Amino acid sequence: MAAKLRQKGTVASSMCGIFGCILKEGAAAPLIHQALKRLEYRGYDSVGEATIHDGKIYIKKDAGKIDEVHKIHNLDDLPGSIGIGHTRWATHGAPLMVNAHPHVDCSGQIAVVHNGIIENFAELKLELEGKGHTFQSRTDTEVIAHLIEEALKTNPSFGLVNAVLEAVRRLEGSYAIAVLSSKEPDKIVCARHESPLVVGIGENALYCASDIPAFLPLTRKAVIVEDGELVTLSFEGFEIRKILDLSPVIREPKFIDWTPEMAVKQGYPHFMLKEIHEQPACLRNTLRLQEHYLDLMATFLDRAKEVFLVACGTSYHACLAASYMFSKLAYLATYPVIASEFIEQHGKSVNIDSTILAVSQSGETADTLAAVNTARQRAATVLGLTNVIGSTLTRISRVYISQQSGPEIGVAATKTFTSQLSVLAQLALRLAKKRGKISQDEMDFIDAKLKKLPDIVETVITTQEEKVKAVAKKYKDSKVFFFLGRGISTATAYEGRLKLMEIAYVPSIAFPAGESKHGPISLIEEGFPVVFICPKDDTHKTIIGNIMEMKARGASIIAIIEEGDEEIKKLADDYVEVPRGIPDVLSPIPFVVPLQLFAYYMAVERGYDPDKPRNLAKSVTVK
Ligand code: AGP
Repeated sequence: MAAKLRQKGTVASSMCGIFGCILKEGAAAPLIHQALKRLEYRGYDSVGEATIHDGKIYIKKDAGKIDEVHKIHNLDDLPGSIGIGHTRWATHGAPLMVNAHPHVDCSGQIAVVHNGIIENFAELKLELEGKGHTFQSRTDTEVIAHLIEEALKTNPSFGLVNAVLEAVRRLEGSYAIAVLSSKEPDKIVCARHESPLVVGIGENALYCASDIPAFLPLTRKAVIVEDGELVTLSFEGFEIRKILDLSPVIREPKFIDWTPEMAVKQGYPHFMLKEIHEQPACLRNTLRLQEHYLDLMATFLDRAKEVFLVACGTSYHACLAASYMFSKLAYLATYPVIASEFIEQHGKSVNIDSTILAVSQSGETADTLAAVNTARQRAATVLGLTNVIGSTLTRISRVYISQQSGPEIGVAATKTFTSQLSVLAQLALRLAKKRGKISQDEMDFIDAKLKKLPDIVETVITTQEEKVKAVAKKYKDSKVFFFLGRGISTATAYEGRLKLMEIAYVPSIAFPAGESKHGPISLIEEGFPVVFICPKDDTHKTIIGNIMEMKARGASIIAIIEEGDEEIKKLADDYVEVPRGIPDVLSPIPFVVPLQLFAYYMAVERGYDPDKPRNLAKSVTVK
């Protein structure tokens, strides 16, 4: 059953959690509170609930973890047997009470909870303000409540369903929403595009949620809502219609035989595998960054006298790749520095003319923050790239960008790494435009390929996963690996090596392939596995030379190649193929995916839990 429900390519990136319920009897609030607790893994920087009672909407919401907010506000204490709730992972607007969901319209008669990213919220907000709407928050979500209000105002004959329909047809981006109206207190209207939404059918209750765990203890009967569908929950039952033309959709409920543990992983055995599979959805969300902040950060980088890219671990590998992107696209020299070395290496020289771009998924890594604080004390400009709005890094950066990957539960960074690379590539492209160092055609070509990366990564996962699994089985007892690349693929090699070390505990060595003959090649003996990352870029010829020098000494060659690369296929003992035609500056994103899967399956083959690697923490907040 797990496999059947887990349709390929439908793994949407977890960003926030929404929930709604209609009960024939009993209080909705406590049930919403418990459901949000079960969705907490989807986001947990703010929480809120709205219920309807006697034609009035009651709301409690605040920033903070669910238990903290409950202690202050008592989330169970709201009247009514109909309600909606939300647990937030901030993407637009810091974690503050005013930005917590539910969001309401001007009259307070419409309440909305939302998971996703509304790309065109800025222009919609301007349009609505022009019509007299006043906004409370800085979120993208709030525009939805005012769009519904506006639809009802301009079409008095509209009911809530038509008003929601009118509203969502204006939205660009991803959404799963649940809407309450005190004017129609007997229903919840939901709609989805890209962000996940499921309906739970209980004995005397109906539920809607971002994910099955929310209502699994209450019912195992679920209906998956598909993209472009609108659902009305009422005491009469649930009704699904297409947003396009309101045509009715009949869909049989499925029986969910997952345990709660499996449900939270959407049927995947581990969070890490779920998050590797989430990368296409994640990359789509990372392509929805707010133009204003990308441009602002690119301006700072453009004017900088010297730029350091500072991070740890996987985030450092993103910086290493970015240094090739900035150089090749914008002719901007940047210096990737491992954060724990920054103070020793540059602490004395960093100055008011220095710019630091700190990259940290958690925004809390002590080594990175220490480097940043040293730079700030010396009047350097600090920029931040993180996945957690409200983290320390966002508070000490002059400008920061949130990569919008949603929470990453697996200790090993996977989806957050490819998201970081996408943001850094978008920055490099904007810098290229500002500096005019490459032709418009080349910029357009790379921009077009960047937008295709979600589909390309999807193709890699769906066509190569089984192959990678077989390669992991073949080499599961190998004692050591080399990971080699040239150019930007050196960063990919370092990342592949870190993944294998940190979750499968296999000693691995990564270095630029050109370094082999300067020492490391002495380690090679019969059957020594060497992983090569070989996009068909300017390094292709030389990497073939490196493969041959390893092969001549008996190494087993595992190559990540571009589809149809016959030349390397002949030399490799095993190979994994990535779709062709990816520009070198973008190649780490699709080429790292087979390495993530390889590390995952090696860990599983060796009997380890990839989600909880020994000795490691998700965020290293100690130096
Ligand atoms: C990566 O898989 C590791 N979990 C670790 O190297 C991590 O990338 C590093 O600790 C940096 O974390 P940050 O991005 O939150 O700063």
